[in-house]
Amino acid sequence: MDYKKLITELKPDRIPRHVAIIMDGNGRWARKHNTTRINGHKQGVAAVRRVVETGVEIGLKYLTIYAFSTENWARSKREVNYLLKLIMNSLVNEIDELIKNGVNIRFIGSRENLSESYTRKVQQTCRKSWENNKLFLNVAMNYGGRNEIIDACKDIILDINKGKIELDELNEKSLDNYLYTTGIPDPDLVIRTSGEQRLSNFLVWQSAYSELWFTDTLWPDFSKKEFLQALIDYQNRDRRFGGRKR
Ligand code: IPE
Ligand code: IPE
Ligand code: MG
Repeated sequence: MDYKKLITELKPDRIPRHVAIIMDGNGRWARKHNTTRINGHKQGVAAVRRVVETGVEIGLKYLTIYAFSTENWARSKREVNYLLKLIMNSLVNEIDELIKNGVNIRFIGSRENLSESYTRKVQQTCRKSWENNKLFLNVAMNYGGRNEIIDACKDIILDINKGKIELDELNEKSLDNYLYTTGIPDPDLVIRTSGEQRLSNFLVWQSAYSELWFTDTLWPDFSKKEFLQALIDYQNRDRRFGGRKR
């Protein structure tokens, strides 16, 4: 079935509010095509464009993509530097098109190890899109779920010491105010490409009740059609949240 036909199979009343994607397999794609890992990452950008376009098309509200983890610093300096540059350049090159499509983009993650000029430039570029509210696109950059929780703990302790909140006021909902993802609903669906079936420190708090969807497809090959297939699968799942069958 082609993309246009498949789109009609989606139930408009059951579009997930938030889809999060672990974009994995650029390196293996490169090996398969006898090219450099760097080229693999470059090809990955086109796949990002495709999922964002589809997100806009189907009326998805929140899309989060895992671009660089706190663990990815362990890669070679050359690859790390290239990834940082690629992420920045893609943001700068795509921002006008994103704005035109009603996308509101922000980066979530730690500032640690990123230069101030880098984070400033990201902020300045993203800010131009903050009037938009069609699709909220979160780029998880220098992101680690455990790190996020530790950062939250530190801020909570500071606020308790300042008397800004009481210990008893801390609960699952108020903790949300301290995460990088404040105000963003939990992901309904987490997709991971490349055949790996793990979270790799992605949205560990937020994905407690997410539906997980895995595919062997390598990220640069991930198509609009396969994205729709993931969404259709999601729509046929039964989410019970510990309760009874719907
Ligand atoms: C995902 O592709 C991109 C990032 C983690 C930045 P990989 O670079 O992890 O590709 P594989 O897993 O080596 O194939
Ligand atoms: C997860 O992929 C991080 C991103 C997609 C940015 P990795 O390739 O880094 O994860 P592991 O090392 O296979 O768990
Ligand atoms: Mg990988």
